[in-house]
Amino acid sequence: MNLLITGGAGFIGSNFIRTILAKYPEDSVMNLDLLTYAGNLENLKEIENNSRYKFVKGDITDRSLVDSLMKDTGAVVHFAAETHVDRSVLDSGNFVRSNILGTYTLLESARQHGGKRFHHVSTDEVFGVVEGKPFDENTPYNPRSPYSASKAASDHLVRAYFHTFNLPITISNCANNYGPYCFPEKLIPLAITNLIEGKKVPVYGDGLQVRDWLHVIDHCSAIDTILRKGKIGETYCVGVRKQLPNIEIVRLILKALGKDESFIEFVKDRPGHDRHYAIDPSRVERELGWKSAIAFEEGIAQTVKWYVENAEWWRKVKSGEYREYYERQYGHR
Ligand code: NAD
Ligand code: TYD
Repeated sequence: MNLLITGGAGFIGSNFIRTILAKYPEDSVMNLDLLTYAGNLENLKEIENNSRYKFVKGDITDRSLVDSLMKDTGAVVHFAAETHVDRSVLDSGNFVRSNILGTYTLLESARQHGGKRFHHVSTDEVFGVVEGKPFDENTPYNPRSPYSASKAASDHLVRAYFHTFNLPITISNCANNYGPYCFPEKLIPLAITNLIEGKKVPVYGDGLQVRDWLHVIDHCSAIDTILRKGKIGETYCVGVRKQLPNIEIVRLILKALGKDESFIEFVKDRPGHDRHYAIDPSRVERELGWKSAIAFEEGIAQTVKWYVENAEWWRKVKSGEYREYYERQYGHR
Protein backbone atom coordinates (compact mmCIF):
# COMPACT_ATOMS: atom_id res chain seq x y z
CA MET A 1 0.00 0.00 0.00
CA ASN A 2 1.09 3.57 -0.75
CA LEU A 3 0.20 5.48 2.39
CA LEU A 4 -0.20 9.21 2.80
CA ILE A 5 0.43 9.86 6.48
CA THR A 6 -0.36 13.32 7.80
CA GLY A 7 1.35 14.54 10.97
CA GLY A 8 3.98 11.80 10.75
CA ALA A 9 6.65 13.92 12.46
CA GLY A 10 4.64 14.03 15.70
CA PHE A 11 4.50 11.56 18.57
CA ILE A 12 2.05 8.92 17.34
CA GLY A 13 2.57 9.46 13.60
CA SER A 14 6.33 8.86 13.85
CA ASN A 15 5.79 5.66 15.84
CA PHE A 16 3.21 4.58 13.24
CA ILE A 17 5.55 5.18 10.29
CA ARG A 18 8.31 3.11 11.92
CA THR A 19 5.78 0.34 12.63
CA ILE A 20 4.51 0.24 9.03
CA LEU A 21 7.92 0.30 7.34
CA ALA A 22 9.15 -2.51 9.60
CA LYS A 23 6.06 -4.67 9.27
CA TYR A 24 5.17 -4.32 5.55
CA PRO A 25 8.13 -4.56 3.13
CA GLU A 26 5.79 -3.72 0.22
CA ASP A 27 4.37 -0.52 1.72
CA SER A 28 5.65 2.98 1.13
CA VAL A 29 4.97 6.10 3.14
CA MET A 30 4.60 9.75 2.19
CA ASN A 31 4.72 11.87 5.34
CA LEU A 32 3.02 15.28 5.03
CA ASP A 33 3.78 17.43 8.06
CA LEU A 34 3.91 21.16 8.65
CA LEU A 35 6.57 20.80 11.36
CA THR A 36 4.76 22.92 13.90
CA TYR A 37 6.40 23.13 17.33
CA ALA A 38 5.23 19.49 17.82
CA GLY A 39 6.71 18.11 14.60
CA ASN A 40 10.27 16.88 14.90
CA LEU A 41 12.14 15.08 12.13
CA GLU A 42 14.59 13.73 14.68
CA ASN A 43 11.75 11.35 15.63
CA LEU A 44 12.33 9.66 12.26
CA LYS A 45 16.09 9.91 11.93
CA GLU A 46 16.74 6.20 11.54
CA ILE A 47 14.40 5.86 8.55
CA GLU A 48 15.00 9.18 6.76
CA ASN A 49 17.08 7.45 4.05
CA ASN A 50 14.73 4.50 3.61
CA SER A 51 13.79 4.32 -0.10
CA ARG A 52 10.15 3.57 0.85
CA TYR A 53 9.85 6.79 2.87
CA LYS A 54 9.43 10.36 1.70
CA PHE A 55 8.90 13.53 3.70
CA VAL A 56 7.03 16.57 2.43
CA LYS A 57 6.92 19.72 4.52
CA GLY A 58 3.52 21.31 4.11
CA ASP A 59 0.14 22.20 5.48
CA ILE A 60 -2.89 19.92 5.29
CA THR A 61 -5.00 23.02 4.59
CA ASP A 62 -3.02 23.62 1.35
CA ARG A 63 -5.38 22.10 -1.19
CA SER A 64 -3.09 22.15 -4.22
CA LEU A 65 -0.28 20.49 -2.26
CA VAL A 66 -2.69 17.90 -0.85
CA ASP A 67 -4.07 17.22 -4.36
CA SER A 68 -0.57 16.70 -5.75
CA LEU A 69 0.11 14.02 -3.12
CA MET A 70 -3.35 12.44 -3.17
CA LYS A 71 -2.96 11.34 -6.82
CA ASP A 72 -0.50 8.54 -6.00
CA THR A 73 -1.98 7.62 -2.65
CA GLY A 74 -3.58 4.26 -1.87
CA ALA A 75 -4.83 5.27 1.56
CA VAL A 76 -4.67 8.22 3.93
CA VAL A 77 -3.94 7.87 7.64
CA HIS A 78 -4.69 11.24 9.17
CA PHE A 79 -2.84 12.14 12.39
CA ALA A 80 -2.03 15.82 11.79
CA ALA A 81 -3.62 18.05 14.39
CA GLU A 82 -3.02 20.53 17.12
CA THR A 83 -3.21 18.24 20.14
CA HIS A 84 -2.46 19.91 23.45
CA VAL A 85 -5.50 20.92 25.54
CA ASP A 86 -3.60 23.62 27.48
CA ARG A 87 -2.55 25.30 24.23
CA SER A 88 -6.16 25.22 23.01
CA VAL A 89 -7.12 27.11 26.17
CA LEU A 90 -4.52 29.78 25.45
CA ASP A 91 -5.37 30.12 21.73
CA SER A 92 -7.77 27.93 19.79
CA GLY A 93 -7.29 29.46 16.32
CA ASN A 94 -4.81 26.86 15.05
CA PHE A 95 -7.02 24.08 16.42
CA VAL A 96 -9.94 25.24 14.32
CA ARG A 97 -7.73 25.72 11.27
CA SER A 98 -5.68 22.50 11.33
CA ASN A 99 -8.15 20.13 12.94
CA ILE A 100 -11.32 21.21 11.14
CA LEU A 101 -10.26 22.98 7.95
CA GLY A 102 -7.31 20.60 7.52
CA THR A 103 -9.50 17.53 7.82
CA TYR A 104 -12.03 19.03 5.41
CA THR A 105 -9.27 19.73 2.85
CA LEU A 106 -8.02 16.14 3.02
CA LEU A 107 -11.54 14.71 2.76
CA GLU A 108 -12.41 16.86 -0.26
CA SER A 109 -9.19 15.87 -1.99
CA ALA A 110 -9.70 12.17 -1.17
CA ARG A 111 -13.23 12.39 -2.58
CA GLN A 112 -12.14 14.17 -5.77
CA HIS A 113 -9.42 11.60 -6.40
CA GLY A 114 -11.73 8.63 -6.80
CA GLY A 115 -12.67 8.12 -3.16
CA LYS A 116 -9.45 7.17 -1.37
CA ARG A 117 -9.47 4.96 1.72
CA PHE A 118 -9.30 7.36 4.68
CA HIS A 119 -8.55 6.52 8.30
CA HIS A 120 -9.09 9.35 10.76
CA VAL A 121 -7.20 9.25 14.07
CA SER A 122 -9.25 10.81 16.85
CA THR A 123 -9.51 10.96 20.60
CA ASP A 124 -11.76 9.81 23.43
CA GLU A 125 -11.92 13.45 24.57
CA VAL A 126 -14.77 14.06 22.06
CA PHE A 127 -17.07 12.17 24.45
CA GLY A 128 -16.58 14.60 27.34
CA VAL A 129 -16.53 13.16 30.84
CA VAL A 130 -17.33 9.57 31.83
CA GLU A 131 -20.67 9.30 33.56
CA GLY A 132 -21.14 5.72 34.71
CA LYS A 133 -19.65 3.30 32.19
CA PRO A 134 -16.58 3.89 29.99
CA PHE A 135 -17.02 5.51 26.54
CA ASP A 136 -17.86 3.24 23.63
CA GLU A 137 -18.87 3.74 20.00
CA ASN A 138 -22.43 4.65 21.03
CA THR A 139 -21.52 7.32 23.58
CA PRO A 140 -22.93 10.72 22.55
CA TYR A 141 -20.43 13.45 21.71
CA ASN A 142 -19.96 16.07 24.43
CA PRO A 143 -16.63 17.88 23.83
CA ARG A 144 -15.72 20.48 26.42
CA SER A 145 -12.34 21.99 25.44
CA PRO A 146 -11.49 23.82 22.20
CA TYR A 147 -9.19 20.86 21.39
CA SER A 148 -11.87 18.21 21.84
CA ALA A 149 -14.49 20.39 20.13
CA SER A 150 -12.25 20.73 17.06
CA LYS A 151 -11.61 16.97 17.00
CA ALA A 152 -15.35 16.30 17.39
CA ALA A 153 -16.06 18.58 14.42
CA SER A 154 -13.48 16.69 12.35
CA ASP A 155 -15.03 13.32 13.30
CA HIS A 156 -18.45 14.57 12.20
CA LEU A 157 -17.05 15.75 8.87
CA VAL A 158 -15.36 12.38 8.26
CA ARG A 159 -18.60 10.53 9.00
CA ALA A 160 -20.56 12.96 6.80
CA TYR A 161 -18.23 12.20 3.86
CA PHE A 162 -19.03 8.50 4.29
CA HIS A 163 -22.80 8.99 4.43
CA THR A 164 -23.03 11.68 1.75
CA PHE A 165 -20.26 10.71 -0.70
CA ASN A 166 -19.53 7.06 0.17
CA LEU A 167 -15.95 7.94 1.02
CA PRO A 168 -14.45 4.72 2.46
CA ILE A 169 -13.60 5.96 5.93
CA THR A 170 -12.92 4.54 9.38
CA ILE A 171 -12.40 6.45 12.63
CA SER A 172 -10.57 5.49 15.81
CA ASN A 173 -11.18 7.28 19.12
CA CYS A 174 -8.27 6.49 21.37
CA ALA A 175 -7.42 6.97 25.04
CA ASN A 176 -4.32 8.89 26.28
CA ASN A 177 -1.07 7.58 24.78
CA TYR A 178 2.36 7.34 26.38
CA GLY A 179 5.72 6.08 25.08
CA PRO A 180 8.84 7.23 23.21
CA TYR A 181 8.92 10.56 21.32
CA CYS A 182 5.98 12.14 23.16
CA PHE A 183 6.51 15.90 23.28
CA PRO A 184 7.45 16.86 26.85
CA GLU A 185 4.45 19.10 27.37
CA LYS A 186 2.11 16.14 28.03
CA LEU A 187 1.88 14.82 31.59
CA ILE A 188 4.05 11.68 31.43
CA PRO A 189 7.08 13.01 29.51
CA LEU A 190 6.84 16.35 31.34
CA ALA A 191 6.99 14.54 34.69
CA ILE A 192 9.88 12.26 33.68
CA THR A 193 12.02 15.00 32.13
CA ASN A 194 11.36 17.53 34.91
CA LEU A 195 12.43 14.98 37.51
CA ILE A 196 15.60 14.09 35.60
CA GLU A 197 16.36 17.83 35.53
CA GLY A 198 15.77 18.05 39.29
CA LYS A 199 12.56 20.11 38.84
CA LYS A 200 9.15 19.54 40.41
CA VAL A 201 6.14 18.04 38.61
CA PRO A 202 3.17 20.44 38.33
CA VAL A 203 -0.03 18.57 39.23
CA TYR A 204 -3.25 20.37 38.30
CA GLY A 205 -5.91 20.83 40.99
CA ASP A 206 -6.28 17.86 43.34
CA GLY A 207 -4.57 15.42 40.93
CA LEU A 208 -7.54 13.07 41.10
CA GLN A 209 -8.55 13.44 37.46
CA VAL A 210 -8.55 10.01 35.83
CA ARG A 211 -7.09 9.15 32.42
CA ASP A 212 -7.06 5.80 30.61
CA TRP A 213 -3.49 5.14 29.38
CA LEU A 214 -2.21 2.99 26.55
CA HIS A 215 1.22 2.57 25.02
CA VAL A 216 1.66 4.29 21.66
CA ILE A 217 2.73 1.01 20.03
CA ASP A 218 -0.61 -0.53 21.03
CA HIS A 219 -2.36 2.45 19.46
CA CYS A 220 -0.33 2.01 16.26
CA SER A 221 -1.21 -1.69 16.02
CA ALA A 222 -4.89 -0.83 16.53
CA ILE A 223 -4.80 1.78 13.73
CA ASP A 224 -3.05 -0.70 11.44
CA THR A 225 -5.68 -3.35 12.21
CA ILE A 226 -8.55 -0.93 11.57
CA LEU A 227 -6.96 0.33 8.35
CA ARG A 228 -6.65 -3.19 6.94
CA LYS A 229 -9.61 -5.01 8.50
CA GLY A 230 -12.02 -2.34 9.75
CA LYS A 231 -15.55 -2.14 8.39
CA ILE A 232 -15.97 0.91 6.15
CA GLY A 233 -17.99 3.68 7.80
CA GLU A 234 -17.31 2.36 11.32
CA THR A 235 -15.80 3.90 14.40
CA TYR A 236 -13.63 1.94 16.84
CA CYS A 237 -12.79 2.94 20.41
CA VAL A 238 -9.22 2.03 21.39
CA GLY A 239 -7.85 1.61 24.92
CA VAL A 240 -6.51 -1.00 27.29
CA ARG A 241 -8.73 -0.48 30.38
CA LYS A 242 -5.97 1.13 32.44
CA GLN A 243 -7.56 3.96 34.39
CA LEU A 244 -5.38 5.89 36.83
CA PRO A 245 -5.64 9.23 38.65
CA ASN A 246 -2.91 11.67 37.61
CA ILE A 247 -1.38 11.70 41.07
CA GLU A 248 -0.88 7.92 40.89
CA ILE A 249 0.92 8.23 37.56
CA VAL A 250 3.16 10.89 39.03
CA ARG A 251 3.89 8.70 42.09
CA LEU A 252 4.84 5.77 39.82
CA ILE A 253 7.27 8.00 37.94
CA LEU A 254 8.72 9.43 41.18
CA LYS A 255 9.32 5.89 42.38
CA ALA A 256 10.92 4.78 39.13
CA LEU A 257 13.34 7.72 39.33
CA GLY A 258 14.03 7.37 43.06
CA LYS A 259 12.44 10.74 44.01
CA ASP A 260 10.17 11.54 46.95
CA GLU A 261 6.88 13.43 47.12
CA SER A 262 8.57 16.76 47.76
CA PHE A 263 8.93 16.83 43.95
CA ILE A 264 5.14 17.17 43.54
CA GLU A 265 3.84 20.71 43.20
CA PHE A 266 0.07 21.17 43.20
CA VAL A 267 -0.79 24.07 40.89
CA LYS A 268 -3.96 25.89 39.80
CA ASP A 269 -6.32 23.64 37.84
CA ARG A 270 -6.81 23.76 34.07
CA PRO A 271 -10.02 25.67 33.16
CA GLY A 272 -12.81 23.24 32.23
CA HIS A 273 -10.60 20.28 33.20
CA ASP A 274 -12.35 16.98 32.33
CA ARG A 275 -12.38 14.77 35.43
CA HIS A 276 -12.52 11.35 33.85
CA TYR A 277 -11.86 9.61 30.53
CA ALA A 278 -12.15 5.85 30.02
CA ILE A 279 -12.59 3.63 26.98
CA ASP A 280 -14.33 0.32 26.44
CA PRO A 281 -12.40 -1.31 23.56
CA SER A 282 -14.68 -4.37 23.27
CA ARG A 283 -15.66 -3.73 19.63
CA VAL A 284 -12.13 -3.55 18.19
CA GLU A 285 -11.18 -6.61 20.24
CA ARG A 286 -14.26 -8.67 19.37
CA GLU A 287 -14.82 -7.68 15.73
CA LEU A 288 -11.22 -7.20 14.53
CA GLY A 289 -9.33 -9.43 16.96
CA TRP A 290 -7.08 -6.55 18.11
CA LYS A 291 -5.25 -7.13 21.39
CA SER A 292 -2.95 -4.94 23.44
CA ALA A 293 0.63 -6.23 23.60
CA ILE A 294 2.11 -4.00 26.31
CA ALA A 295 1.04 -4.17 29.95
CA PHE A 296 1.01 -0.75 31.64
CA GLU A 297 3.63 -1.55 34.31
CA GLU A 298 6.06 -2.80 31.65
CA GLY A 299 5.24 0.10 29.29
CA ILE A 300 5.75 2.83 31.85
CA ALA A 301 9.05 1.30 33.03
CA GLN A 302 10.25 1.12 29.40
CA THR A 303 9.14 4.70 28.82
CA VAL A 304 10.99 6.07 31.84
CA LYS A 305 14.08 4.17 30.66
CA TRP A 306 13.69 5.58 27.12
CA TYR A 307 13.64 9.18 28.38
CA VAL A 308 16.63 8.50 30.64
CA GLU A 309 18.58 7.02 27.71
CA ASN A 310 17.43 9.61 25.16
CA ALA A 311 18.07 12.77 27.10
CA GLU A 312 19.70 14.31 24.04
CA TRP A 313 16.38 14.09 22.15
CA TRP A 314 14.22 15.78 24.79
CA ARG A 315 16.85 18.30 25.89
CA LYS A 316 16.91 19.59 22.31
CA VAL A 317 13.12 19.71 22.31
CA LYS A 318 12.96 21.56 25.60
CA SER A 319 15.63 24.05 24.50
CA GLY A 320 14.06 24.50 21.05
CA GLU A 321 17.25 23.32 19.35
CA TYR A 322 15.43 20.53 17.47
CA ARG A 323 13.95 23.16 15.16
CA GLU A 324 17.38 23.73 13.62
CA TYR A 325 17.45 20.13 12.48
CA TYR A 326 15.10 20.74 9.56
CA GLU A 327 17.31 23.52 8.22
CA ARG A 328 20.43 21.36 8.52
CA GLN A 329 18.79 18.34 6.95
CA TYR A 330 16.56 19.89 4.30
CA GLY A 331 17.50 23.58 4.03
CA HIS A 332 19.88 23.02 1.08
CA ARG A 333 17.62 20.61 -0.86
P1 NAD B 1 1.55 15.66 18.09
O1 NAD B 1 1.11 17.01 18.58
O2 NAD B 1 2.72 15.00 18.72
O3 NAD B 1 1.85 15.75 16.53
C1 NAD B 1 1.01 16.41 15.62
C2 NAD B 1 1.74 16.51 14.28
O4 NAD B 1 0.86 17.15 13.35
C3 NAD B 1 3.01 17.35 14.36
O5 NAD B 1 4.07 16.68 13.70
C4 NAD B 1 2.64 18.64 13.62
O6 NAD B 1 3.73 19.25 12.98
C5 NAD B 1 1.59 18.13 12.63
N1 NAD B 1 0.66 19.17 12.19
C6 NAD B 1 -0.09 20.00 12.96
N2 NAD B 1 -0.81 20.84 12.19
C7 NAD B 1 -0.53 20.52 10.90
C8 NAD B 1 -0.97 21.02 9.65
N3 NAD B 1 -1.84 22.06 9.56
N4 NAD B 1 -0.49 20.45 8.52
C9 NAD B 1 0.40 19.42 8.59
N5 NAD B 1 0.86 18.92 9.74
C10 NAD B 1 0.41 19.47 10.89
O7 NAD B 1 0.25 14.76 18.17
P2 NAD B 1 0.07 13.21 18.55
O8 NAD B 1 0.01 13.10 20.02
O9 NAD B 1 1.02 12.40 17.75
O10 NAD B 1 -1.42 12.97 18.01
C11 NAD B 1 -1.66 12.54 16.66
C12 NAD B 1 -3.16 12.35 16.47
O11 NAD B 1 -3.66 11.41 17.43
C13 NAD B 1 -3.96 13.64 16.67
O12 NAD B 1 -4.96 13.70 15.68
C14 NAD B 1 -4.58 13.47 18.07
O13 NAD B 1 -5.82 14.15 18.16
C15 NAD B 1 -4.75 11.97 18.14
N6 NAD B 1 -4.72 11.40 19.51
C16 NAD B 1 -3.66 11.68 20.36
C17 NAD B 1 -3.64 11.10 21.62
C18 NAD B 1 -2.49 11.34 22.56
O14 NAD B 1 -2.56 10.88 23.74
N7 NAD B 1 -1.40 11.96 22.15
C19 NAD B 1 -4.69 10.26 22.03
C20 NAD B 1 -5.75 10.01 21.14
C21 NAD B 1 -5.74 10.58 19.88
P1 TYD C 1 -2.26 15.79 29.14
O1 TYD C 1 -1.04 14.93 29.04
O2 TYD C 1 -2.17 17.23 28.78
O3 TYD C 1 -3.41 15.05 28.32
P2 TYD C 1 -5.01 15.37 28.23
O4 TYD C 1 -5.31 16.64 28.90
O5 TYD C 1 -5.21 15.44 26.76
O6 TYD C 1 -5.65 14.19 28.89
O7 TYD C 1 -2.78 15.70 30.65
C1 TYD C 1 -3.09 14.46 31.25
C2 TYD C 1 -3.68 14.77 32.60
O8 TYD C 1 -2.65 15.34 33.42
C3 TYD C 1 -4.78 15.82 32.56
O9 TYD C 1 -5.76 15.48 33.54
C4 TYD C 1 -4.09 17.11 32.94
C5 TYD C 1 -2.99 16.65 33.88
N1 TYD C 1 -1.76 17.44 33.88
C6 TYD C 1 -1.20 17.88 35.09
O10 TYD C 1 -1.74 17.62 36.17
N2 TYD C 1 -0.04 18.59 35.05
C7 TYD C 1 0.58 18.91 33.86
O11 TYD C 1 1.63 19.60 33.89
C8 TYD C 1 0.00 18.45 32.63
C9 TYD C 1 0.66 18.78 31.31
C10 TYD C 1 -1.16 17.71 32.70
